Amino acid sequence: GRCVVAVDGPSGSGKSTVSRRLATALDAQYLDTGAMYRAVTWAVLQSGVEPHDSDAVAKVAGEVQLEIGTDPSAPHISVDGTAVDGPIRGPEVTGAVSAVAAVPWVRQLLVAQQRKLIAEAGRMVVEGRDIGTVVAPDADLKVYLTASADARARRRSAEDATDVAATAADLHRRDQLDSTRATDPLQQADDAVVLDTTGLGIDEVVSRLRALLDG
Ligand code: CDP
Repeated sequence: GRCVVAVDGPSGSGKSTVSRRLATALDAQYLDTGAMYRAVTWAVLQSGVEPHDSDAVAKVAGEVQLEIGTDPSAPHISVDGTAVDGPIRGPEVTGAVSAVAAVPWVRQLLVAQQRKLIAEAGRMVVEGRDIGTVVAPDADLKVYLTASADARARRRSAEDATDVAATAADLHRRDQLDSTRATDPLQQADDAVVLDTTGLGIDEVVSRLRALLDG
């Protein structure tokens, strides 16, 4: 039957790994909404548009065609037929994505696409920042993952093979950018289960979430 799990939290909280593993365990599809904001950001940079030029960014977002693969064992995203899975993790996109994600029209467009993908999938684990509050307020389970700043920087730098100090600085910069603006996308739903993953392994987190769904 239908089963939608919303997984929200800041970067490095373990969202991606946990969401993919949970989707596999539930035989569900997986949607990484951050990858969609990153893909639009890639298109913005590619077209030479300045990420803070909201009107120009909105125009690019309206023109590009995103294609999203939701298999948890092989998530995939392309922009107008070009695979961008590698480039969207690069420093240029990471440096510009907060500005692009702040444009209201970009959010409207992507939230509409996300809702459509969820409706089509029926069973899906959806990862992001506004899933439990905006994208899928009717989700069967809402999870809000947190972790200490240190743990988040360590995990993220291990994923990226980048320097921990540089990663910590970048996470801090993006946390600040996202949280100090009026339209911070990161929201904890009132009915979300909050899980601090600092001292927990992935298996532990996944099995706790499965227990919540079974219970
Ligand atoms: O995990 P990490 O923060 O590195 O990135 P992500 O989940 O790939 O998301 C990248 C950026 O997209 C975030 O910093 C947010 O600015 C934005 N985002 C958003 O606004 N809303 C979402 N549902 C997901 C991501």
